[in-house]
Amino acid sequence: MRATGGQGRFLVLEGTEGVGKSTNLAFVRQWLEARGLDVVVTREPGGTPLAEEVRELLLAPREETVVPTAELLLIFAARAQHLAQVIEPALARGAWVLCDRFTDATYAYQGGGRGLDTGVIAQLETLVQGERRPDLTLVLDIEPAQGLARASRRGALDRFESEEIAFFERVRAAYRARAQAAPERYALVDAGLPLADVQAAIDAQLTVLLT
Ligand SMILES: Nc1ncnc2c1ncn2[C@@H]1O[C@H](COP(=O)(O)OP(=O)(O)O)[C@@H](O)[C@H]1O
Ligand SMILES: [Mg+2]
Repeated sequence: MRATGGQGRFLVLEGTEGVGKSTNLAFVRQWLEARGLDVVVTREPGGTPLAEEVRELLLAPREETVVPTAELLLIFAARAQHLAQVIEPALARGAWVLCDRFTDATYAYQGGGRGLDTGVIAQLETLVQGERRPDLTLVLDIEPAQGLARASRRGALDRFESEEIAFFERVRAAYRARAQAAPERYALVDAGLPLADVQAAIDAQLTVLLT
């Protein structure tokens, strides 16, 4: 294993509901910690007390229609807080940051799913993140119906999980397009396979990253 020179990396797991992000986040954490790396595990929207409150606002089912631009701005408000309070300080001290969703989710859900202009998302990305981008994003890819069947076993559906299947088809297509457009920074993983096969694919990606 190559020494990482105290240089932290920023890794993200992405994908639609029930694809296995949380399950595989634990796997990646163990994989990195077994190699002696300092790992900070976090999630979006959320990751700080304020950002977690914004998450609750975003996920709560509600009578009032949430206009897509309001949703977008809440997400980037939470992200600004999360970057400043958690992600940037961790990377600065050489930790590896492992995040459950990040800005690709915004392109996929608010761009692909809601139909917001991706140029506007890109402007907010630059405003909030500057040059900061994940070093590797693992996009877990699954047939949305299969993912939703897994997710529904968790209990009541949140505001996003309650969307129609066509919404998740658009989200999935946006994720796949982004992963395929920049293969040096993304890995598209077939998450419909048994967990052992998914984790073998992730293991291979992490091995490349550390080589
Ligand atoms: N490859 C897999 N095959 C079968 N079930 C899986 C697989 N990956 C995850 N699961 C199960 O699917 C459910 C949703 O997984 P989870 O990790 O919570 O997804 P996410 O965080 O992406 O919504 C969990 O019950 C989990 O155990
Ligand atoms: Mg999860």
